[in-house]
Amino acid sequence: MDTNPNGNNSSISADTTTKVILFTSCKGGVGKSTVCANLAMAVAKRGKRVLLIDCDFGNRCLDLVAGFSDEVVYDISDIASEKIDCERAILHDRRCENLHFIAAPLGFDHTMDPEAFRAIVKRLTDTGSFDFVFIDTPGGIGEPLQLAAAVADTAYIVVEPTRPAVRAAERTSDYLAQKGVGKRRLIVNKLSGGSVRKAQQELISIIDTTSVKLHGVIPYDPALIVAGNRGILIDEIPSFNVTNAFDNLAARTLGEGRRLFANIKRLRKLK
Ligand SMILES: Nc1ncnc2c1ncn2[C@@H]1O[C@H](COP(=O)(O)OP(=O)(O)OP(=O)(O)O)[C@@H](O)[C@H]1O
Ligand SMILES: [Mg+2]
Repeated sequence: MDTNPNGNNSSISADTTTKVILFTSCKGGVGKSTVCANLAMAVAKRGKRVLLIDCDFGNRCLDLVAGFSDEVVYDISDIASEKIDCERAILHDRRCENLHFIAAPLGFDHTMDPEAFRAIVKRLTDTGSFDFVFIDTPGGIGEPLQLAAAVADTAYIVVEPTRPAVRAAERTSDYLAQKGVGKRRLIVNKLSGGSVRKAQQELISIIDTTSVKLHGVIPYDPALIVAGNRGILIDEIPSFNVTNAFDNLAARTLGEGRRLFANIKRLRKLK
């Protein structure tokens, strides 16, 4: 079956064992790429094979955040234009054998229509080589998000605890529901406020406003900014709060029971 009752494409995960998850928010700068790349490493470190695909056409940066920028030769548009086959565009991480990456083109490629993108993701999932495909999308409800929404069965909507970001999360969820992305979950990033108890109140308010279920939380931590600028992921980030938070998120992604704030000691107080 290729369409759901809304007339949109059904998810690819329906006929493979690979789960396809997109990371989004129609607000820029909330941490989509940071969360996507670090969660990919956290899941890979737990023994699952993860393929990261950068869908930020025209402004690619996941290669920088995830530490692949020196190795990119081909990108996903080279597969679409049949210049190369899928295998040649995949980079294999040197830090963790379970992590793999495909770059976005430097400019938006208009040959990349939903059909072409869907065919590529289907080819990749049909290989059986990946347990997860994580797709990072740019801010906004643009063409890349449409492409990703046509192939994903799950969306992690990244939100920071600010009113514009929360409003954006609500709009993003409504849009994805229209596009037939059945499972939509919030990841609240850059959580601060000093105490976990205070943050829990904030979370309730975010869930209440957006009506989207919560998947997990990541504290605000400057170590993530430094790491993002150096292409370093959680395997090398010197902050237990950050590494524990991503491990919690990875456990919850794999369906394990894990408390939201397990091993997160305290949250930063921002002035
Ligand atoms: N938990 C966090 N604590 C502190 N800084 C963070 C955190 N998460 C992300 N950042 C920082 O926020 C900035 C934006 O992050 P990132 O590029 O991941 O956002 P994005 O949503 O992907 O942006 P864009 O919409 O441009 O794609 C970066 O400087 C990043 O290091
Ligand atoms: Mg980004």
